[in-house]
Amino acid sequence: MSKSSPIGIFDSGVGGTSIWREIHELMPSEKTIYLADSKYAPYGEKPIEEIKQLSKKNTEKLLKMGAKIIVVACNTATTNAIEDLRASYTIPFIGIEPAIKPAATNSKTKTIGILATRGTLTSSLFSKTSDFYRKNINVVEVEGRGLVELIEAGEKDSPQMHILLLKLLEPFLINKIDYLVLGCSHYPYLIPKLRELLPKNVQIIDSGEAVARQTQSILQQHNLLAPKKDALNPNPEFFSNTNPTVLSKLINASKNGYKVSYLDF
Ligand code: SIN
Repeated sequence: MSKSSPIGIFDSGVGGTSIWREIHELMPSEKTIYLADSKYAPYGEKPIEEIKQLSKKNTEKLLKMGAKIIVVACNTATTNAIEDLRASYTIPFIGIEPAIKPAATNSKTKTIGILATRGTLTSSLFSKTSDFYRKNINVVEVEGRGLVELIEAGEKDSPQMHILLLKLLEPFLINKIDYLVLGCSHYPYLIPKLRELLPKNVQIIDSGEAVARQTQSILQQHNLLAPKKDALNPNPEFFSNTNPTVLSKLINASKNGYKVSYLDF
């Protein structure tokens, strides 16, 4: 493993590319390898043991590909499996958790919304954070059941998505939230639609930028940041264990010259 080794990133599917994009923008010198475990998506409805096993499977693959750090670009895998991963491997892991803190600190209505999968909302890691902020503010949690499936199917802008979002957003509107925290790496792809359906005063927060900054800082601490010359040839690589059409479209692969391949893992 060296400074020029890749940053490994995995998600239950295509959603973690929202995190990949922030990492790529912040650190253009870094080579990145992205694994979309779409064959097993969504993770959000799976038992904890299965989420842990899938996270280990993805980690092993990225380690074989020479990753110097692994970004778990999936809230469900982070909240349920990252402690296990850190205990099992020596490589640094970066996780993604719902950004409750900035929402809770800045909310004027003292009511914030969290949209996440069941796996994230029921995890003990998330509950600990949420319970802490609940002492002072009202936290409205909604399980985004069905959203990941539609995004994975390339239906993020479909009429079904519109109907599903109208139903899911109702508790946020009734409770007059002024911050909505996106607790799933797939959901940033819904931001244009969410802006259309939510009142103008509602701020939407996702964790992508913070995860990218954290990744940079950990690489720096480990003296593993890629040399600037590598910016000329970062070669991002994407692998999916299902048909990669949706993934290619989301990252505009053909226009940007990104390599997207099918891989059985
Ligand atoms: C899922 O696979 O259910 C969603 C991924 C996430 O929680 O970020």
